[in-house]
Amino acid sequence: MANDHATATNVPVPYSTGDSAITETTIAEMRELAARYPVGRSALLPMLHLVQSVEGRVTPEGIEACADVLGLTGAEVSAVATFYTMYKRRPVGEYHVGVCTNTLCAVMGGDLIFERLKSHLDVGNDETTEDGKITLEHIECNAACDYAPVVTVNWEFFDDMTPQSATQLVDDLREGTEVKSPRGATICSWREAERVLAGFPDGRADEGPTGGKASLAGLRLARERNWTAPNGAAGSSNAAAAAESTVSPEAAAGPRPSDQPGKESQAVNGNDSRKED
Ligand code: FES
Repeated sequence: MANDHATATNVPVPYSTGDSAITETTIAEMRELAARYPVGRSALLPMLHLVQSVEGRVTPEGIEACADVLGLTGAEVSAVATFYTMYKRRPVGEYHVGVCTNTLCAVMGGDLIFERLKSHLDVGNDETTEDGKITLEHIECNAACDYAPVVTVNWEFFDDMTPQSATQLVDDLREGTEVKSPRGATICSWREAERVLAGFPDGRADEGPTGGKASLAGLRLARERNWTAPNGAAGSSNAAAAAESTVSPEAAAGPRPSDQPGKESQAVNGNDSRKED
């Protein structure tokens, strides 16, 4: 029986385990990150991602290490680490699976997908499967509404999802099958992705397409109608002309990928890795 959110939040947060994985190498990389900014404390966010890549979560030892390197107090670092939802106090599984349940995704099926995954994985929100493979979390809008409902794996998008395709996705991840985002890189582990977010590229940033047709519909319309971006006072007449132009919402939105015989990501990729229902 899946636990509900209230049960999940009642599970104590593990404090220090006494066997921190932070090493001198980690500290040296923290100093390297701090040196990239005019003011070192600007590196705190990437440093916390680095802590997660090493520890699997933000640990008390990681907080103290960041504080030492940046000359901050532990309380100051904790205030940041507990504010942003991408920083995790509980250990995250090998893959972080996010289901957008914000308004548009929710009405397009996100709520149903989240309920199906909770049941299929036998976990509640922000909980990890017994095999340590999947941490499931409902997430807020990821600005990917043009492909709603979306699911993320380690923040890589999976578009136009259904309960069936989401179930297949988590099954593939648990079985170790190679999984590719339809508009991103091959899925790596959450810790590896955290290292990239920390600012240590893995050389795969350019894998996959840069944008699908649904995302580029506005750009296509602007080109067709010879619209340009406003440029101060000189551009105001363009903006006014654009505002006066009568474009129906349907025309502006363009066809949904799922309405087409060949979905948009297929057109972009030439190879749709999504699972059909
Ligand atoms: S509502 Fe889900 S990405 Fe915007």
